[in-house]
Amino acid sequence: MSTTANHTVNPTAELKSTTGATDARGERIHGNVLIWDLPTRIFHGLLAGGFIAATVIALWFGEHSKLFPYHAIIGLVIALMIGLRVVWGLVGTRYARFSSFIFGPRAVLEYMKGVLARTGKLHIGHNPGSAYAIFVMLALVLALVATGILIGQGSESAEDLHEILAYIMIGMVIVHILGVVIHTVRRRENIIASMIHGQKNAKPGDAIRSSHPVVALGFLAIAGAFAFGLIRDFDPTTQTTRLPILGVTLQLSEAEHKDGHRNDPGDAKHKVKDEDD
Ligand code: HEM
Ligand code: HEM
Repeated sequence: MSTTANHTVNPTAELKSTTGATDARGERIHGNVLIWDLPTRIFHGLLAGGFIAATVIALWFGEHSKLFPYHAIIGLVIALMIGLRVVWGLVGTRYARFSSFIFGPRAVLEYMKGVLARTGKLHIGHNPGSAYAIFVMLALVLALVATGILIGQGSESAEDLHEILAYIMIGMVIVHILGVVIHTVRRRENIIASMIHGQKNAKPGDAIRSSHPVVALGFLAIAGAFAFGLIRDFDPTTQTTRLPILGVTLQLSEAEHKDGHRNDPGDAKHKVKDEDD
């Protein structure tokens, strides 16, 4: 049995694993075993759902909709979830740990060659291709949240950057989903279902011992309390809220003044012009 987290199995053997096939080292494969723990799966669900919701609110409903403050609130909760995922990436289970899916360029090249030739090895944890996409997506979401916060401080360059990053991220997500679907169909390995129930076809020795439901509940409780605090302290008149514990006030969208003006940097110009008229 291998002791490394990202070792591979012979794809043909994996496809036939329920019929008692053997892997590349001649070891018997026994069937479905637990690979993704609950914190990782819940993180993925909240990240994917949250990203889609924030994007739909911004692009579909638009800035002037009553839902728009939730765009930023969802973004802030996702940022907190990424923070928790980073901690779990350091201390979590075997395949959730970052050290199990940090690959060098050579591994990525080998993986890509294997994808093109359709002979590549199946990875039990994240493969080198998806690993890079994962790190880029996490960084992009954090950059989106940072630029989103800066928009509230009146930065116009942050506004442009926020929009560009959002479109790059949408492109990355489309590639991610396409990659997952292509892998599922071509390799007949249902990794979509694996991210839901946590199991993959592998040897019992590859399994993680626990899905860590208590840690998952802890993650959910922290994210829920954070979201509750942001929503409770949201002031619709100023379009602001306060970050729980830190107490920092954040502008979530451009605020409406009583006189109907929007609270943007152009406001000062509007006022001077109004007085001149
Ligand atoms: C709804 C469609 C989606 C499906 C079916 C899907 C499926 C998957 C699957 C199967 C994996 C595991 C890949 C592997 O085996 O290496 C994964 C991982 C991941 N996906 Fe998605 N995904 C979806 C949407 C998204 C979205 C919208 C995002 C980003 C906002 C995202 C970000 C990620 C990340 C960061 C990981 C790594 C999870 C971790 O290790 O914590 N996914 N996804
Ligand atoms: C998952 C994180 C986020 C995503 C995917 C996202 C995505 C987007 C998208 C697609 C737009 C529309 C861009 C356009 O076409 O004009 C937008 C606009 C905006 N976002 Fe976000 N955003 C996120 C987080 C945040 C956060 C955390 C904040 C504030 C704290 C924020 C504040 C804003 C504001 C104020 C606008 C309107 C900008 C304008 O006037 O054009 N966003 N966002």
